[in-house]
Amino acid sequence: MKMMTIVGARPQFVKAATISRIVQETAGLEEILVHTGQHFDQNMSDVFFDEMQISKPAFQLDVNSVGHGAMTGRMMEKIETLLIDQRPEVVLVYGDTNSTLAGALAAKKLHIPVAHVEAGLRSFNDRMPEEVNRILTDRISTNLYCPTDTAVSNLHTEGFDKLSNRVVRTGDVMYDAALFYAKIASEKSTVSIPEKDFVLATIHRAENTDDPKKLKGIVEALNHINETNPVVLPLHPRTKKYLEMNQLTLSFDTIAPIGYFDMIQLLNRASLVVTDSGGVQKEAFFFKNNCVTLRDQTEWVELVENGFNTLAKAENPEDILNKVNAMLIKSNQFEQDLYGTGHAAESIVKDLLTSI
Ligand code: UD1
Repeated sequence: MKMMTIVGARPQFVKAATISRIVQETAGLEEILVHTGQHFDQNMSDVFFDEMQISKPAFQLDVNSVGHGAMTGRMMEKIETLLIDQRPEVVLVYGDTNSTLAGALAAKKLHIPVAHVEAGLRSFNDRMPEEVNRILTDRISTNLYCPTDTAVSNLHTEGFDKLSNRVVRTGDVMYDAALFYAKIASEKSTVSIPEKDFVLATIHRAENTDDPKKLKGIVEALNHINETNPVVLPLHPRTKKYLEMNQLTLSFDTIAPIGYFDMIQLLNRASLVVTDSGGVQKEAFFFKNNCVTLRDQTEWVELVENGFNTLAKAENPEDILNKVNAMLIKSNQFEQDLYGTGHAAESIVKDLLTSI
């Protein structure tokens, strides 16, 4: 079977690494990897391919740094040409980025089945570009691979149980990646770890970076936290741009975006995670950290329901500080099967081979 995989943004490289490894071990399955170019810096893209030994993409589309419409449109146009030329039997897309939607739409219009990994997630905030991307991608996917029970139940609520789409609860490929790479990362990472108990932070969501009130609230809170616990913040290019634009200053040195091994190592050693990323909320849990999420909603509700994660209002530094202080001292039992058993990629590949 010939499968075309579309990736473009940092978290998709991590997810694709897990499935690509299983594909390489599976007879009768050929993968054509396409990189849309959405993320393009050495430390936002290449480092993941090198560290996780993902095969070099067969095609690089070089679409980036333009608005949502232009980005999605240009990607679709280039993917369509590739699909006509390569004629895969299925197109595999991951998550909720513009690259995901472009790949799914281009395939659907050519009547090529679409498999969506990380299907069924909802924040119920349709002002997020990611929410729009995931709802539309789910709607036109033939195979919907859900990481959690909540994701399956979201799809049922939307009527997917009455449609002919295939909805399967597979577990989360990001958990597969965390288990597989943890030991290698501890040997290979060279990231510097603070001596004191530190807080690992990541900020990049448009809803936070593009709203000066929220970005200011986050900066104030992080500056405060840093007075007692050093904050390690690998700075996303979007956030860097908006901090400069709004003349907001962090009182500590940030670090450049880091590779997966360094990220895992920091997650392993941190005392708490503060983030607005979807993936990092789960990775905090995989590495037994409590998490404070700087958003009004999360797609990973099971973390909040079980007390591993709490939401804080980005525009309210006091709210962030209160939650951070509470989560720093809260002890939790992390041994719960919320995201599968670390074999999600195998389940997905097996299901693709039998159902397409
Ligand atoms: C995108 C995804 C988001 C995902 C995130 C992971 C969408 C709508 N959003 O957000 O779902 O969680 O990736 O990081 O698809 N830039 C660089 N160098 C790079 C990459 C980006 O300078 O290597 C710049 C871009 O030019 C742009 C900004 O960073 O100005 C934001 O990049 P963009 O691809 O628009 O989205 P993300 O915020 O990364």
